[in-house]
Amino acid sequence: MSTPPKGKLPLPELAAMKQRGDKIVMVTAYDAPGARFAEDAGVEIILVGDTAAMVVLGYEGTTVPVTMDEMLFLTRTVSRSARRPIVVGDMPFGSFQVSDEKALENAIRFVKEAGADAIKLEGAGPMVSRVKTIVDAGIAVMGHVGLTPQSATKLGGFKTQGKTARAAAELVEGALALEEAGAFSVVLEAVPAPVAAEITRQLTVPTIGIGAGPDTDGQVLVYHDLLGLSEGHLPRFVKRYANLSREIRDALEHYAEEVRDGTFPGDEHAYAMPEEELELFRSSISPSATSANAQANEPTMSSSKSLSPAPASEPPLRKTSSP
Ligand code: KIV
Repeated sequence: MSTPPKGKLPLPELAAMKQRGDKIVMVTAYDAPGARFAEDAGVEIILVGDTAAMVVLGYEGTTVPVTMDEMLFLTRTVSRSARRPIVVGDMPFGSFQVSDEKALENAIRFVKEAGADAIKLEGAGPMVSRVKTIVDAGIAVMGHVGLTPQSATKLGGFKTQGKTARAAAELVEGALALEEAGAFSVVLEAVPAPVAAEITRQLTVPTIGIGAGPDTDGQVLVYHDLLGLSEGHLPRFVKRYANLSREIRDALEHYAEEVRDGTFPGDEHAYAMPEEELELFRSSISPSATSANAQANEPTMSSSKSLSPAPASEPPLRKTSSP
């Protein structure tokens, strides 16, 4: 890839953080405000996750339906706003499984059309050659093993992976193969903490855990989950740091109540105009002018409802301080 923009966290810094034992913070985001908040909080990586399907696009319990075009749209909004954090675009289901070539084409779209700094794709095994092909083309790739939600049906649901000795060994092998193929980092999702710790020990590239215990090199959570914007059942590994859905609901109910009872907008939310202009305006829409228009049967601005003279009983326009 080309030189990263000024101010962007250099990718090798992540490996250096692992060496120093500094934890890497990753969070998902799907829009410009989320990207700005994450940047201001100092996170190293923003993942535009395909969890967008569930947390912003309204699909229930699956990430499978989100499309390339939707992911590119969301990634573009994030990369426009995130200057320092590394923005990782998550390749949606169907965008990389078919062939190495197809995977590379779509990875290029993330970088070229959506401004992503890197891409992530789920799985090891046959997906290792996808990672190698994309890395060989100069695009940074993050791997993802353990619970890979795009294959949730095949895995028997959203379940912890690697709970038997054999399955745990396969996870280690998969993560090592992704590193060998050139992945700069590997997400470990919903795997027993000791297995994640062992993978982290064996890999030279950083691991980012979600439901993988405390010993990974970094952690990731879904924005809506950690902020309490997601409602309903949440996985055990989520910690809520706020309850924003309650705050949003309260605020919207309060707003609706104030619109209905006339409390909003108040004088401080309205605009005034100079008194003499108001006088001129009022005389320009005098009853004689409007009735002359009506006689000529010509619909004009001054005959429209919005500019009709106020009945004598109506209160005058409010005078407020200008913005
Ligand atoms: O799509 C996503 O948000 C993810 C994270 C949960 C790692 O893949």
